[in-house]
Amino acid sequence: MKITTDYLIIGSGLAGLSFALKVADTGKVTIITKNSLEETNTSYAQGGIAAVLSSPDSFTHHIEDTKIAGAGLCDEKIVEKVISHAPELIQNLKQWGTRFDTEKNGQYDLAKEGGHSANRILHHKDNTGFEIQRALCKEIRNHKNITVLEHFFAVDLITQHHQDELVKRYQHDIRCFGAYALDIRTNIIYTILSKATMLASGGAGQLYSTTTNPTIATGDGFAMVYRAKGLLDNMEFIQFHPTGLYNPKESPTFLISEAVRGFGGKLRNKHGEEFMLNYDERGNLAPRDIVARAIDSEMKKSGDEHVFLDCRHIDAQKLSNHFPTIYKKCQSIGIDITTEMIPVAPAAHYFCGGVSVDEFGRTSINHLYAAGEVSCTGLHGANRLASNSLLEAIAFADFAAHMSEKEKDSNPIQESIPDWDDKGTSHPEEMVLITQSLKEVQQILNNYVGIVRSDVRLDRAFNRLWTIYLETEEMYKNTTLSPKLCELRNLILLGYIVIKSARARKKSIGLHYMVDYTG
Ligand code: FAD
Ligand code: SIN
Repeated sequence: MKITTDYLIIGSGLAGLSFALKVADTGKVTIITKNSLEETNTSYAQGGIAAVLSSPDSFTHHIEDTKIAGAGLCDEKIVEKVISHAPELIQNLKQWGTRFDTEKNGQYDLAKEGGHSANRILHHKDNTGFEIQRALCKEIRNHKNITVLEHFFAVDLITQHHQDELVKRYQHDIRCFGAYALDIRTNIIYTILSKATMLASGGAGQLYSTTTNPTIATGDGFAMVYRAKGLLDNMEFIQFHPTGLYNPKESPTFLISEAVRGFGGKLRNKHGEEFMLNYDERGNLAPRDIVARAIDSEMKKSGDEHVFLDCRHIDAQKLSNHFPTIYKKCQSIGIDITTEMIPVAPAAHYFCGGVSVDEFGRTSINHLYAAGEVSCTGLHGANRLASNSLLEAIAFADFAAHMSEKEKDSNPIQESIPDWDDKGTSHPEEMVLITQSLKEVQQILNNYVGIVRSDVRLDRAFNRLWTIYLETEEMYKNTTLSPKLCELRNLILLGYIVIKSARARKKSIGLHYMVDYTG
């Protein structure tokens, strides 16, 4: 069954929705999203969005902080472009109805997070992402040119490969004609044909057993681009957030925002010692890779499964006002953050690498654009500065919107693309084959490709994944498509890409910390 559209957008987080709103007056827009419009990583963002809006802060300082966190691997031109556009993009968010907290004098209440040399994080309490998503969803649902297809799962990108042409990686003229997508409610696989396709499918925290990311974050976009022979970069740089709430019964891990440390929260070990200054002179507000490694080291030394975040010295009223979601969540599991320390441990949080794009959000596949966490733009380098990802998502959605408006008409709809062929497949007999393999993949990555890595651990992870890969590919050939099976397959491929990238780096840098390459 076919659907045709000018713009196909895969994903309904900040990247996908802001792109939609920017292009909607120039053509017909179709957004597909594998869950509800609202269920995205964006919705869970707590701390906020980084932007320089007034002196004494300056673009130069924000640029420097971003480059320092990125450990020398940021693309300077991109860092400058994104950071200098930030004020205009914040204005867009406001025009679409997003509310940011202000002081009594009307000035923004700017928060601070690790690696930032100034207070520059705009936020809405501690649920900034929820507020952004709320505002954008309202605009999207009211726009006459935008069609939203919820519970539509993108399976694969369509290229000349589907017209029986041989397509190879590093080939310059691969073209994207849309995507195959499974309507999860009816099991119909649609051929969605588009002139421009925006991949905004977010990250892949679910590659790990301990993650802050919701269950939608299964790296489908990375895997689809890899299969379509597109290029990815920096895939080994996976950011672990230092302070996930330690509550082993719960998955995903609830996040305790870095803004809590920006507000004065202190990390302590079980003896009550503040340990961060033993690791870095910036203490509790050092960049994330350093704080996560320090906690990992404290946990290994003590044999404990967590450390503590101490807010007991902060004014109780101010703390609970500023962080109502965190306050309530901790209270719900019996912790009063104003009088008790919060048990915290690192959790997989953010993919700094992704689908390679140029400064206009163009991937190596013509007419396929990418923005947000699925992309690798050059902004983050080897480690993302806190609250720079929402900024990157809206920035590259904007850059790509301008470019795709110009380029789309040179990629006419390809009516001749065949529909998906699932002859000879049948429903899986035992779902446990999928669910158990998923758990194994997540454990392998958690244990062998985590915060601290080694050649031996990477080799072991690769060998273990290989067995699961062969079993899953065999199952995929014979089984009717389902989101769970596709996600498992995508995560296995992603695990392989991460390990391949990690092995190729041959040094410790930023988030990729190898015991074999440290002094
Ligand atoms: P997402 O918001 O994740 O959206 C991805 C979309 O793609 C979803 O709609 C999903 O359903 C859809 N999708 C995925 N695969 C498919 C498929 N196969 N078919 C169809 N649809 C698909 N960053 C900050 O800058 N500041 C913060 O304060 C902050 N806090 C965070 C707190 C938490 C708990 C988490 C998890 C992340 C946080 N981040 C923060 C990171 C930030 O939220 C994300 O990087 C950003 O929201 C990504 O936006 P996106 O549009 O790229 O993807
Ligand atoms: C947080 O609030 O700590 C998350 C910020 C981010 O991931 O950028």
